[in-house]
Amino acid sequence: MASGKAPRMTVRRLRFAYPEGLGGVWNPAQPAFSHIVNAGSLAMPYLEPYLIDTMRQARAKLDDPALIADIDCYIGQEATHYRQHQQFNRQLADRGYAAVPQMEAVLKADYQGFARNRSFTFNLAYAEGFEAMALTIGHMLIADRDHLFGDGDPAVASLILWHFVEEIEHKSATYDVFMALDGRYRWRLYGLFYALFHIMGRARQGYRLLLCEDGLWSGWRARLRRYRLLLRIFGGLLPRLLHVLKPGYNPRDVPDPVWAQAWWAQHAAGAGDLGALDTARLAAPVPMAMGAAR
Ligand SMILES: [Fe+2]
Ligand SMILES: [Fe+2]
Repeated sequence: MASGKAPRMTVRRLRFAYPEGLGGVWNPAQPAFSHIVNAGSLAMPYLEPYLIDTMRQARAKLDDPALIADIDCYIGQEATHYRQHQQFNRQLADRGYAAVPQMEAVLKADYQGFARNRSFTFNLAYAEGFEAMALTIGHMLIADRDHLFGDGDPAVASLILWHFVEEIEHKSATYDVFMALDGRYRWRLYGLFYALFHIMGRARQGYRLLLCEDGLWSGWRARLRRYRLLLRIFGGLLPRLLHVLKPGYNPRDVPDPVWAQAWWAQHAAGAGDLGALDTARLAAPVPMAMGAAR
């Protein structure tokens, strides 16, 4: 049974061995999902340093040692995330997608603009809005992992599931800081909606370009499959997002998925290679690494 308590955060360094010549569609059963993930990945080397910068500013305003320790762990995890995404994104760029440099320029300008021109209150609310959204995405991805990642490339599936297991792990970090330094409900909602529409808008722009380059955007079959996928994704996100809207929302009250708890336990025990999950066995209640005994 999920306890609802995230363990103490840990910065983990995993290795993801992408196969030579891996294409943008790393899960042939889910071409649109592959490019949705790719588009999201392109944002990480710009979004996560911006979150880190905001939390560093917050750190200077706080004197609670527990909050400061959490911020330091949070920064360690986010810095590791974006460096891993940078490596993955270079692979995408090497495949020759014009969308990669195009979206990177857009995302760089967005986050530089927020950091330079927006208030600290806005940036803190954006950080908490993004983290609340990331928590809902993490739960949705884990609940639907077999459908979305099943039989896909193990390294990419493992990268994304590692990232979101850690997003779940640091679910309270920005919330606690937001509550300590501001706490206004209307700002929490504003940050959530702003981050949600901003990220979703940029992700759509990115995956549209990527799918177009692969000739997978048009045609009624592709459209129908994409609409069904988006309905499924948003069907998984909506109830979780509605919970975030409640005035008394606290991410601590969101129980951690059993699969994520097993992931943490396996990592702590040094069991299996969590950078190479067996994507044929994602339906199992616990993570199964390639080559692990059945
Ligand atoms: Fe992250
Ligand atoms: Fe995060």
